[in-house]
Amino acid sequence: MQTDAHHFTFVLFGAGSDLAARKLYPSLYQLARWGHLSGSYRIIGAGRTGLSHEEYRLQVRERIAEFSPGIIEDEEHFADFCRKLFYVRMDFGRIDGYHALHQEIMNASVEPDLCSHLLFYLSTPPSLAPVIVGNLREAGLGGKTLRCGGLRKILVEKPYGSDLQSAVELNALIASVFSENQVFRIDHYLGKETVQNILVFRFSNGIFEPLWNRQHIASVEITIAEDFGIRDRGAFYEQAGLFRDIIQNHGLQLLASVAMEPPVDLSADAVRDEKAKVLRSIRLVTHDTVDREVVAGQYDGYRREKQVAPDSLTETFAAVRFHVDNWRWKGVPFLVRAGKNLAETVTEIVITFACPPQNFFGPAESCSYTANQVILRIQPEETIAIRFGAKRPGEAVITDPVYMRFDYKDAFSRPGMTPYHRLLLDALAGNQLNFIRQDSVEYSWAIIDAIRQALAGAMPDVYPVGSWGPPRASELKGVL
Ligand code: BG6
Repeated sequence: MQTDAHHFTFVLFGAGSDLAARKLYPSLYQLARWGHLSGSYRIIGAGRTGLSHEEYRLQVRERIAEFSPGIIEDEEHFADFCRKLFYVRMDFGRIDGYHALHQEIMNASVEPDLCSHLLFYLSTPPSLAPVIVGNLREAGLGGKTLRCGGLRKILVEKPYGSDLQSAVELNALIASVFSENQVFRIDHYLGKETVQNILVFRFSNGIFEPLWNRQHIASVEITIAEDFGIRDRGAFYEQAGLFRDIIQNHGLQLLASVAMEPPVDLSADAVRDEKAKVLRSIRLVTHDTVDREVVAGQYDGYRREKQVAPDSLTETFAAVRFHVDNWRWKGVPFLVRAGKNLAETVTEIVITFACPPQNFFGPAESCSYTANQVILRIQPEETIAIRFGAKRPGEAVITDPVYMRFDYKDAFSRPGMTPYHRLLLDALAGNQLNFIRQDSVEYSWAIIDAIRQALAGAMPDVYPVGSWGPPRASELKGVL
């Protein structure tokens, strides 16, 4: 019997986590409400708190009401969703909890246990991932091949490991329990409409791709800025820091989407092959180059945040000038900067084209004022703009930059899918296109490890809240 992807049991490790409350429960409920979960399914929350099934259902309701107010419109429908929720109390480090989980899966499943479609979602701190995977193996809950046609999948949230070594170890452990096509490494940026559109923009239009190379592009700048601090995530931030939290995944994935070669086709592996090649081509920072290529910052007041050490050296800002040493990009700087408590919340990719060979309309250095740019704004607005120079009306010939702009909200009526809706549906369907493959995770860690080692725990530059980061970061940009 082949299991239908729509009949599934979704096991959520970290039932009480912030991510579950803010994103996973609302997304699962909305998918059910919109009719995307058409088969019979069960959701089993696993966590340390002692809760009955009923208490768990109430808790899920409260969380959805708190973080996604208004989405519970139809009480009957919600009650139907709630009946599919079950709870297992367990200590993720103890094997007996997994036997209890196994039992609950059997109780809850609509299919005979081994033939069911089981998804394990790890919404837990990174240090627990190896513990959980090891115990799933011990308890016989993994499984690369299930004779009766059942499906097993594991979904792992970022950060995936905390450096290259831990990621390699985690990959090896997971590979002993699941095949790569059962592993869904989540970077929610890949579920964003505007991030997915980078590929469409590049490869469905004939006019951009011929110019998309070192002959015509002068620089690429990627910004992931937030106008708020670390909120209540002091403990996590002290462990992670911005390189690991944002650059290793979101930043490098955006870079790979901009820089990759056209894939052979749109299959998950064809696309991921090309992204992996880009990451592999990025030049590693060394002790000799780190001062020139990297600026780390810490916002003023970070050390007074809750659960942060008063002498913390953790970075909350980073700007890195990456070099993609391949045939297409050699010599083109890719500036990636990201930070907390900056002037604005914006994620944007700016591709600046080379100046024309002669500047008739002003001094040579004025070219940058009107240089052609393609500006892909990922959020909060979802736009693409093309900048070019135009003659300012009047007698004198003076050029000014002007913009042609496409806005998603004007062009399309949006279906309201968020990254987690999309990624959950993709994982259910087994589509790995928007999940990170093992090799890319490891290449990305090698890049970040090199930076962190070269910085050798130096104190980041302190920057004022509401600024664009340390002044040295703009200098990095200035010498592009
Ligand atoms: C997460 C980071 O992965 O992405 C957070 O851990 C960050 O620090 C968040 O705030 C940003 O995501 P988004 O979708 O709001 O841009």
